[in-house]
Amino acid sequence: MDLDKVVCSCMSVTSGMIKEAVDAGARTLEEVQEATGAGTVCGACLDEVKVLVDHFTSEAH
Ligand code: FES
Repeated sequence: MDLDKVVCSCMSVTSGMIKEAVDAGARTLEEVQEATGAGTVCGACLDEVKVLVDHFTSEAH
């Protein structure tokens, strides 16, 4: 996975920033949105953000 890839162009949020939010304790799409701002503007990236949240939360045990 490319952690430098920008997932949310509105907020310039990368995959790595989503991972960091999950590592810091965010467990849901809403918590990641709060932590990173991803998906809070136009919403076009929400599907991809959600996939990443699912991916990283399933890794974080
Ligand atoms: S691309 Fe993420 S809110 Fe617009």
